[in-house]
Amino acid sequence: MKITIVGTGRVGAAIAFAATINPLASELLLLNRTRDKAEGEAIDLLHASAVRNTNMRIRAGDIPDSKGSDIIVFTASVPYGDPSRKRSELAADNLHVLQEWIPPLVEASPDAILIIVSNPVDALTYAALKISGFPPHRVIGTGTLLDSVRYRSMLSAELEIHSDDIRAYILGEHGDTQFAAHSLSVTGGERFYPSDTSRQLFQKTVNVGYEVSRLKGHTSYGIALATMMILDSIIYDLRHTMPVSVLIEDYFDVKDVCLSLPSVIGRAGITRVLRPPLSEEEQHLFRHSAEAVQDCIRSMGE
Ligand code: 2OP
Repeated sequence: MKITIVGTGRVGAAIAFAATINPLASELLLLNRTRDKAEGEAIDLLHASAVRNTNMRIRAGDIPDSKGSDIIVFTASVPYGDPSRKRSELAADNLHVLQEWIPPLVEASPDAILIIVSNPVDALTYAALKISGFPPHRVIGTGTLLDSVRYRSMLSAELEIHSDDIRAYILGEHGDTQFAAHSLSVTGGERFYPSDTSRQLFQKTVNVGYEVSRLKGHTSYGIALATMMILDSIIYDLRHTMPVSVLIEDYFDVKDVCLSLPSVIGRAGITRVLRPPLSEEEQHLFRHSAEAVQDCIRSMGE
């Protein structure tokens, strides 16, 4: 199993660190525009891996070294700059980053699964799908998995129930139009209908990424471990269901855009996109999210 991480900024480096602590692959390759940064991370991680007693091969390289990767995790991005910047404001610049990297990467690894982490993740997942020519089940955006994890952790504190036992999804765009699918929320078979508390926690979820960025300048650990959930499920063919950004074929009149829906993830990539019966209000919110991502795709102008 060979994993290539593209971009060794804070997010890429945090994913590489998580993959070193919990080694899933025989080889981890780090690529970065500035090769020295990738070299430095690779050497530091090798020292960490010695403590973990793994024999995962960790190295920095160039695109030809990625040949035969099973999974490519794409985190490369232009700098965020101002932490209050909306994710969608990075769209045009990050499209160029994708256009530069994806063609040679997919030429080197035509059978890889592509995981898009860079923002705005939904528009970029759609762009990556088009640029790579890969089938939709092999292009996965981290989407609202991170938001759902954030939401479940807040609900867990409120309900005093372990977050693994709470089924609660944030769906739609990984951005300002995301929504909590309250009608699907359940724990131990018991529904917790939208209450003032769940609505407030959802509102907090939408804003908490900005809040973390305001406080520490960026976010990294949450997205790193959310990405590990996807990697785990692929590598061990676990078939976990999680909301990730996927091509929507036809769901409540939405098609030809990437958004998050609960999806089953296994060794082949997305093995199934689920079609939960959303309430009317949620269907409206899903369509609203789709419009926002379609606007973003259009604004990228390609
Ligand atoms: C996050 O929500 C910035 O999209 C990133 O943490």
